[in-house]
Amino acid sequence: MISKEKILITGVAGFIGSNLASRLLAEGYEVLGIDNLAYGLRENVPDGVEFHFKDIRNKDIYPLFQGVDTVFHLAAKNCIADCQDDPAETAEVNVSGSVNVFEASRRAGVRKVIYAESSALYEGSKIFPTPESEVKPESFYAVSKFASMYFAEAYRRFYGSQISPHSSHLTLHNLSFTALRYFCVYGPVQDYRRTIPPVMSAFIIKLLKREQPVIYGTGEKRRDFIYVDDVNDFHLMCLTDKRTDNRAFNLGSGMNYSVNEIYRKVSDLLGIHIPPVHKPDLPGEAEVTLADISAAHELGWAPKTGIQDGLNNALTYIKREMAKGNIP
Ligand SMILES: NC(=O)c1ccc[n+]([C@@H]2O[C@H](COP(=O)([O-])OP(=O)(O)OC[C@H]3O[C@@H](n4cnc5c(N)ncnc54)[C@H](O)[C@@H]3O)[C@@H](O)[C@H]2O)c1
Repeated sequence: MISKEKILITGVAGFIGSNLASRLLAEGYEVLGIDNLAYGLRENVPDGVEFHFKDIRNKDIYPLFQGVDTVFHLAAKNCIADCQDDPAETAEVNVSGSVNVFEASRRAGVRKVIYAESSALYEGSKIFPTPESEVKPESFYAVSKFASMYFAEAYRRFYGSQISPHSSHLTLHNLSFTALRYFCVYGPVQDYRRTIPPVMSAFIIKLLKREQPVIYGTGEKRRDFIYVDDVNDFHLMCLTDKRTDNRAFNLGSGMNYSVNEIYRKVSDLLGIHIPPVHKPDLPGEAEVTLADISAAHELGWAPKTGIQDGLNNALTYIKREMAKGNIP
């Protein structure tokens, strides 16, 4: 059997990283993962991944990139509220950490870096659905993703497929990038432990415990939710389809729901109806997100999982975690 390429995932113990690792292993890829477990959990990392407890800000990650074909760079400080509280650490992890990953990739001769940007880049836009050209970041989190986007562009400019005169001697470089602008990704292994957990997990857990869920603001903010398996379909395309090289793609469903609508869907699914508590709105959060997914669509990608099926899968996962005593 011909062994498949070696893929490195940063943030492998997190929500998207661990789901991606499972999918890549199932497809026969060799998977190596880095995480400092700042947010992720060691038990999220699937068996079969070569796991390294490392911080992306440290140069000791460089040797791990030797022999790697493609890097998925997902590690980040990514809760908007946490980033608003600590802009300095946000920059260290999301900007310096990302540059360190790009540099490790360049030095090791990695073919391609596929990295996480975010729909937060569109915070200031009023165009819905929002195309990839509408970049208007506002929060510290979004600005950190914006800065790393510019670094990726500079790496592509100087180390993309060309002979580079910018290094000390002429070298053939062939590093390409794909930027993924995830909207609200949801599904199993979603992190429900953080200060402000993602709405779906938070509602499911509270209602199962017969407690009042919290809604920040009026609940009329609208979000575009995309199921994690659909995101993984696009991840796989990035490995094989050259048309994804050196471009940015929105990954959303192209439909949105208000937080109140999601709350009603979760309540109805569980058959548990408890009025939510309303708390003051969170800073830095956009009013509406809605992806224009035509760029990914043109390459043959389309989301397959409807909100009802996706919610059901998220519910099954949370019930299983509760039965194991993992959710206090
Ligand atoms: N989940 C979403 O809806 C969403 C939306 C937009 C963008 N994103 C982006 O996608 C990526 C993955 O998101 P996720 O939801 O899986 O987040 P997550 O928090 O579940 O995973 C991120 C992982 O990165 C790790 N990490 C953080 N700092 C690190 C460091 N300094 N060194 C090594 N590892 C570190 C964390 O421990 C965690 O396991 C992030 O870059 C995020 O900004 C996610």
